[in-house]
Amino acid sequence: MSGKVRVGIIGLGSWGECHLEAFHALPHAEVVAVCDTRADRLKHAEAEYGVRHCYTDYEQLLEREDIDLVSVVTFEKMHLEPTVKALRSGKHVLVEKPVSTRKSEALEMRKVAGEYGRYVLPGHLLRFDPRYADMKRAINAGEIGQPVSMYMKRSRENKLFATYRRTHTVYELTIHDIDLAIWYAGSRVKSVRAHGRSVTNSDVPEVLWACLEFENGTLAHLHSNWMTPDKAGIAIADQIEVIGSKGTAHFETSNSGLQIWNGSGRTTPDTNIHIKTMHKQTAGSLREQLIYICDCLNRGIAPDYISFEDAIHGVEVADAIVQSADAGKEIVIG
Ligand SMILES: NC(=O)c1ccc[n+]([C@@H]2O[C@H](COP(=O)([O-])OP(=O)(O)OC[C@H]3O[C@@H](n4cnc5c(N)ncnc54)[C@H](O)[C@@H]3O)[C@@H](O)[C@H]2O)c1
Repeated sequence: MSGKVRVGIIGLGSWGECHLEAFHALPHAEVVAVCDTRADRLKHAEAEYGVRHCYTDYEQLLEREDIDLVSVVTFEKMHLEPTVKALRSGKHVLVEKPVSTRKSEALEMRKVAGEYGRYVLPGHLLRFDPRYADMKRAINAGEIGQPVSMYMKRSRENKLFATYRRTHTVYELTIHDIDLAIWYAGSRVKSVRAHGRSVTNSDVPEVLWACLEFENGTLAHLHSNWMTPDKAGIAIADQIEVIGSKGTAHFETSNSGLQIWNGSGRTTPDTNIHIKTMHKQTAGSLREQLIYICDCLNRGIAPDYISFEDAIHGVEVADAIVQSADAGKEIVIG
């Protein structure tokens, strides 16, 4: 393949639109077709981005032979079917996080990708955030030694819980940190002990703690929550500290550097994940991830900076976290 990567997007909700914006702005990509069951989303894609082929049935999108890569950006629990059907139709797939909420489904995706000789790539975009990426570089370069203790916090605005309570917090938020923790530790997780709390008697916890012990002895404490008050105006309040045998790396994001003060108060927007700029480009780790994938496909090299093996193990760890929080005991991963 060379030239532009021809893209299809399945699922045009809030994050699917970010995929559309980011791909649309890339010189190395062309969004050929999009699909959503909601016709209003398709009208928007056509009017705003000039997408010419819009479908409410993704099987019709997959019948097209002029698509190289499909982004699957549907609901968290609905990634399996579009992913395996896209692979079987000869497309590479970028499947959003969580790749699945079941390990068996993630294994099925890997199997079908192998059978059809296509890539299935997990949407773990924090590996493309220069700060998280540079921590990994520092670990690999021996600058802080082998990680001994890791603390990772992910806080989101309370209003988002109304939507994302449809999935357990571990698959929605903590899964990002599970992927980073596996990447940094360079080891499999041996056991987990987790606690969840809901302040609204919800089925899923607004506050989740998980302590991970890796096979190589590394410890990680992951803390995810939907408790940032909406009026605080802080889109993302994340934190990470990696203590190694020779040094420490850390950063904190609640002050992204940009603050907007006006009559409604103060907002601190995120500028690192995905923003649309006034000159019709985008910036952030989503863009970096898409550039990397398109570049690999164009050059015919394996996009192995992101690891589906790690993503499968991540789902396994997430499953164990749910079990541990529910059962109130440590879960050993076999
Ligand atoms: N990587 C990140 O940082 C990040 C950020 C946000 C969301 N996400 C992930 O992206 C995925 C989507 O999240 P969202 O916030 O956009 O959700 P959303 O509810 O806003 O959008 C999901 C869309 O999928 C569509 N859809 C569902 N089933 C479909 C089907 N069979 N065919 C076609 N369209 C279908 C829905 O109509 C909806 O428009 C989730 O897995 C979520 O975890 C990732």
